[in-house]
Amino acid sequence: KLAENEGALITEGLHVVGKPLSGAAQADMKRLMPEGEARDLAAELLKEDHELPALMRALSGHYIAPVPGGDLIRSPEIVPTGRNIHAFDPFRMPTAFAMAEGGKQADLLLETHPSLPRTVALVLWGSDNIKSDGGPIGQALALMGAKPRFDNFGRLSGADLIPLKKLGRPRIDVVMTLSGIFRDLLPLQTRMLAEAALKCAEADEPLEQNYIRAHALAYAEEMGCDLETAALRVFSNAEGAYGSNVNQLVDSSAFGDEDELADAYEARKSFAYGINGKAAQNPALLQKALKDVDLAYQNLESVELGVTTVDHYFDTLGGISRAVKRAKGGEGAPVYIGDQTRGSAKVRTLQDQVALETRSRSLNPKFYEALLNHGHEGVRQIEAHVTNTLGWSATTGEVEPWVYQRLSETFLLDEEMRERLAALNPQASMRMANRLLEASDRDYWAPDEATLEALQDAADALEDRMEGVAAE
Ligand code: BEZ
Ligand code: MG
Repeated sequence: KLAENEGALITEGLHVVGKPLSGAAQADMKRLMPEGEARDLAAELLKEDHELPALMRALSGHYIAPVPGGDLIRSPEIVPTGRNIHAFDPFRMPTAFAMAEGGKQADLLLETHPSLPRTVALVLWGSDNIKSDGGPIGQALALMGAKPRFDNFGRLSGADLIPLKKLGRPRIDVVMTLSGIFRDLLPLQTRMLAEAALKCAEADEPLEQNYIRAHALAYAEEMGCDLETAALRVFSNAEGAYGSNVNQLVDSSAFGDEDELADAYEARKSFAYGINGKAAQNPALLQKALKDVDLAYQNLESVELGVTTVDHYFDTLGGISRAVKRAKGGEGAPVYIGDQTRGSAKVRTLQDQVALETRSRSLNPKFYEALLNHGHEGVRQIEAHVTNTLGWSATTGEVEPWVYQRLSETFLLDEEMRERLAALNPQASMRMANRLLEASDRDYWAPDEATLEALQDAADALEDRMEGVAAE
């Protein structure tokens, strides 16, 4: 655990458009990149600003050179920044490399979970697949025992099954939930995933070796629908819609019982995408599939974002976890994060991932001091970590109480720090205090009387200060 905390990569402050990395940050970045010519060139380019000149060119209607999108550490050839990001060749994805990596990640997930799951709920994002040439897509296919099919020109044209004998284990049912961005960027892959699930359901194979078929036959019978409908496993928003709104409800404290988050999730994410790429809302089928989920999973593909950095992780993975819990009558399924950001990948429980990020980021002076260098916005970022942490409690209950205790001590009960934050951004400071009190109200932790009182005093003092600011 100590080594893992010590070795965890963290971002250092926010990127400011047009401002090159500091010399020390450049050196750190260079150390993390794979050795070679691309690294040396990238290290040189990182010293220059290519962004504001590119912005000015764009505003003047001039040409902006294109570049594939990617992760700086994994693909140093993507610098300089300030270019026109295009994704990839959509016909070649997932690549052979992504299939191999996805297969390994799927194996690692299966090794980590104590028993062979029958159904996995998998969250798929567009950007993550772009960064990895389709790694998470490869993972979904590997779990089902399928692979992409390419035509004579090497273009993606569908999915084929890997024979059970070669697979060596049962086909695992995968409930795939796509972000709206994935659906928009990857229509071929959306159809391919639907085809993989359908082919599994139609395969003439023993039910104990093919959980997709077993489930699809049962759903078809119970719902009185055809096998093709019962085999739909690719879910996303309605066309043109994004997100599950779970993040909005948490941000505005606008939920009573946590099951309201499951309602929001299902209302938004129950659109099933079939092999023709068209969506049809089918909440009854989604609920059936969720009831059978044994674990929920999402990859973490880039060091830039952790599960507590932005609210989208608990919006997607948290949202589906809560919907699973409700569908299963109150007994949740384990939630895992596949961390691909460092050396050999690692699968962690969500609880461990939140703990690791809390220690290596939120409570780490190197991390928060770098944010505080940005002043007002830095405090807002710290407050966002606290809110996102509450989002994980609300959706999964997988945040240990010490997290809230230590966040309180570090940012609000320490007088000097509280004053610093309040001077930089009283509103975000007040929101942070109120969020920690909300966590206590919702029984996500149980602070002792003295802590509770100190937090309440801090919140009141910050509120007075806000009123003072408003009066001025
Ligand atoms: C995506 O790339 O799919 C995505 C990125 C950020 C938030 C949510 C989804
Ligand atoms: Mg947003």
